[in-house]
Amino acid sequence: MSSLTRSKRFSTGSEALALFIGLSNATSRRWGPCSPCRYNSTTSTDTFTIEGKSYPKDSWHNLPPNITFYISRRLHTTKDHPISITRSIIESRFPSPTYKYHNKFFPIVTTHQNFDSLGFPLDHPGRSKTDTYYINSSTVLRTHTSAHQADTFRLNASEGFLISADVYRRDAIDRSHYPIFHQMEGARMWDRRTVPNGDIAAAVWADIERLPKHDMKVEDPNPPTHAERNPLQKEHRREEAEAIAAHLKRSLEGVVVEIFTRAKRAALAADPGFRDEPLRVRWIEAYFPFTSPSWELEVFWQGDWLEVLGCGVVKQSLFTNAGVPDQLGWAFGIGLERIAMLLFEIPDIRLFWSKDPRFLDQFKGVSDNFNNLRKFVPVSKYPACYKDVAFWLKSSSSAAGGGGKEMEFHENDIMEIVRDVAGDVAEDVRMTDSFTHPKTGRRSMCYRINYRSLERTLTNEEANEVHERVRGKLVEKLGVELR
Ligand code: DAH
Repeated sequence: MSSLTRSKRFSTGSEALALFIGLSNATSRRWGPCSPCRYNSTTSTDTFTIEGKSYPKDSWHNLPPNITFYISRRLHTTKDHPISITRSIIESRFPSPTYKYHNKFFPIVTTHQNFDSLGFPLDHPGRSKTDTYYINSSTVLRTHTSAHQADTFRLNASEGFLISADVYRRDAIDRSHYPIFHQMEGARMWDRRTVPNGDIAAAVWADIERLPKHDMKVEDPNPPTHAERNPLQKEHRREEAEAIAAHLKRSLEGVVVEIFTRAKRAALAADPGFRDEPLRVRWIEAYFPFTSPSWELEVFWQGDWLEVLGCGVVKQSLFTNAGVPDQLGWAFGIGLERIAMLLFEIPDIRLFWSKDPRFLDQFKGVSDNFNNLRKFVPVSKYPACYKDVAFWLKSSSSAAGGGGKEMEFHENDIMEIVRDVAGDVAEDVRMTDSFTHPKTGRRSMCYRINYRSLERTLTNEEANEVHERVRGKLVEKLGVELR
């Protein structure tokens, strides 16, 4: 799975680090032990039920209740929520009826939809239990909106579509990573049987002429295809793939112009001294199992190149398998949180889940009129409280003092334990030290956890209490030996 739509290189700008407090319900909810009656799902030993749908559980099930809690929030369709506003602004660049908007696809999908239909190999790391939430061995919480591509091609209800949805990944904890986030998938198709004279390239170029022009500086240093790195598909003529790529690139450059012009306008309104630099973007060759050639788009924003989306010419096998072998086209995937964080200068991804009016009221009226868009104003920042935890990893013969094989260890297991115990007061978790004992061969690790509430100052005692529970759970769940 590409991590591109949620890059760790994302930077929010130093002044934006001041935190606004807004998680009153969510935070307090997650402080105490989880009470199952608060969740909209039930889970017995052998069945998982959510929103009236039941799934058998098996040994693959790894979905913690705190994730389930969020499934029904649907921020991307909540009026005046920044995720929903971001979705609508992008949709405005892909007009109906050419593009049909799908915003209600259910988040639980089969491994076939999420992986196989897109050509992910069986040994792809994205399939592992450390990266993906499994309901059972063949059912997952979708890890990307691409999971719906094949079905939407098969539906064949429009020439293009946008799919916006919540997606789920086991991942790090920091200000720009959260196990639930939102993506938008886009695609545009042309049909060999219906374009004039069967000439796809000519039809696509005619459509390109109808796209809005822009004067943004675009760097596109590589040739449209590259035999090894970014090959033309055997089913495509060169001029077809090149026309489709040109339509794709021009359409997505339009999205960037739209978003960043609005972001600049909001930044300027808040600070007339804002340094207004010309917008620069660049296309980078990429790889995805379901497109070829493929690219990522990067934007130069406040001194850094930032990945904003992945895209490419859809592999012909997807269309063939979806029963529409005469279609050709492009697809893209974009992470909505990252765009919303830029657009509004929202400094912490946890804020999107806030129900506090001091957060939500700042976006009132924007869904109806994007010109009401203003930079988010953080109102206060509560102090952080760092705590370290150091431990020896379990080894099969640790009692004997060494030589044993190290347990299977994945950092996401640590992340999940911290999230389970501390909820949203865990702002950031990072490894600060790791070493292997020269004699025993045992590995020691140290993690630093930054506890910070978005709603109030945590006392040291409170932070200690949570931290003690985290330590206990690490021993209980991972069998580590605390140092
Ligand atoms: N699904 C990819 C991800 O989550 C993003 C993506 C890349 C979507 C290329 C696409 C595409 O449709 O063509 O990272």
